[in-house]
Amino acid sequence: MAFSVVILAAGKGTRMKSSLPKVLHKVGGIPMVQRIINTVEAMAAHNVHLVYGHGGDQLKTSIEGKRLNWCLQAEQLGTGHAVQQAADHIKDDEDVMILVGDAPLIQQQTLERLVAVKAECDLALLTVELDDPTGMGRIVRNGEQISAIVEHKDATEAQRLIREINTGMMIMGGADLKRWLKLLGNSNAQGEYYLTDVIEMAAKEGKVIKAAQPDSAVEVEGVNNRIHLAGIERALQHREAVTLMTNGATLADPARIDVRGNVTTGQDVFIDINVVMQGTVKIGNNTSIGANCVLIDCEIGDNVVVDSHSVIEGAKVSENCVIGPFARLRPGAVMKPNAKVGNFVEMKKSILGEGAKVNHLTYLGDAEVGAKANIGAGTITCNYDGVNKSKTIIGENAFIGSNSSLVAPVKIGDGATVGAGSVITSEVSSDSLAVARGKQRNIEGWKRPTKKSS
Ligand code: UD1
Ligand code: CA
Repeated sequence: MAFSVVILAAGKGTRMKSSLPKVLHKVGGIPMVQRIINTVEAMAAHNVHLVYGHGGDQLKTSIEGKRLNWCLQAEQLGTGHAVQQAADHIKDDEDVMILVGDAPLIQQQTLERLVAVKAECDLALLTVELDDPTGMGRIVRNGEQISAIVEHKDATEAQRLIREINTGMMIMGGADLKRWLKLLGNSNAQGEYYLTDVIEMAAKEGKVIKAAQPDSAVEVEGVNNRIHLAGIERALQHREAVTLMTNGATLADPARIDVRGNVTTGQDVFIDINVVMQGTVKIGNNTSIGANCVLIDCEIGDNVVVDSHSVIEGAKVSENCVIGPFARLRPGAVMKPNAKVGNFVEMKKSILGEGAKVNHLTYLGDAEVGAKANIGAGTITCNYDGVNKSKTIIGENAFIGSNSSLVAPVKIGDGATVGAGSVITSEVSSDSLAVARGKQRNIEGWKRPTKKSS
């Protein structure tokens, strides 16, 4: 059956002590509420109604979804009142899943389980048993049948002993939900319109209510402060590490990597300690990433060695390349197969041809380097005259001597050689030698100055 989702995210999040709405705080590099939207979109949720209260402008610029419907809850009068803000958009003949915006680790497989349980009953609740259920709504059962949820503040001593709690996530028919929402009152300990009151209404109508459980309690754990946020972040990183290892990557220490986005790895990948991977990162088979590397929105092919302390962003690295240690590939850097970039080399918007080498201390910006070219230590492509950026084109098999400045726009032909220390300002034709530096003069018998006696 088609289902829509209501995400409750209007709470202020006072304990975050932040100018950012709570649900925009990131877990694994992605805002908490965006993670939840991504999860339900992967399940083909029909509409996603986001109930928000604070920081609407910030939310609207940061969050995206295919069928996102923004529902303002101007005053936070309770979870039932929050769902009421979406009621006009809910269809009678669809199921409605209600989720909370601050529990970002909820997994698709758990929500699918909840949907499957709903198919066998009228209202399905996601519940967990906690050792310490203090503060949570308790699941009251009459034998097996669920009869109500009682909030901690409204519960009797006996009810407070119940360890099965309401996670705030549930699913029921649209017509039922809308009918029950109209009947909510706020005569309770907190003076709020509780969504949880619909459970007792359903039970009294003779509806069948069942519960499903998540794989682990961390999936339904909410974030109320930055200490929770840090705990949830570690739990997510553990999950990401397990996924990488399951897919065939060896991690030097699963507790010392950080995935902040979507990372896919081939088989027999090795990832050393303290590697940060951000955005969309693809790593091919048999590739190894050294300690302390940062990989952002990049694609790295098979059999690549990235040595320690390298930063690769917005770059595409082909198979069998070697990078680092201490290399920096900036957006638009492309390495063709078997190319090599060594220590303290920076590449920006440049193509390094097949088998070409740039081994030490070089800047390549807006450059095209042909296959098998060799760029000596300390070479700089002078791509910027203070106003415009220009290109440097270096042909196949060219050899650029150390400490050369190539003043763009300039072209070095195939097989050309540039003498060390040259400042090249005009085209060097193929297979020729260019030397553009002060000529060496030797003065025989030269005497060094001596100290004058005063
Ligand atoms: C709620 C449940 C409780 C459950 C707990 C799980 C009710 C009455 N109680 O309690 O049974 O054990 O969650 O965490 O539902 N929100 C709004 N607008 C509001 C109030 C809340 O959008 O007016 C949102 C919050 O942003 C949050 C979610 O609803 O994402 C839950 O609100 P919260 O205040 O944390 O509810 P609890 O009192 O903890
Ligand atoms: Ca809560």
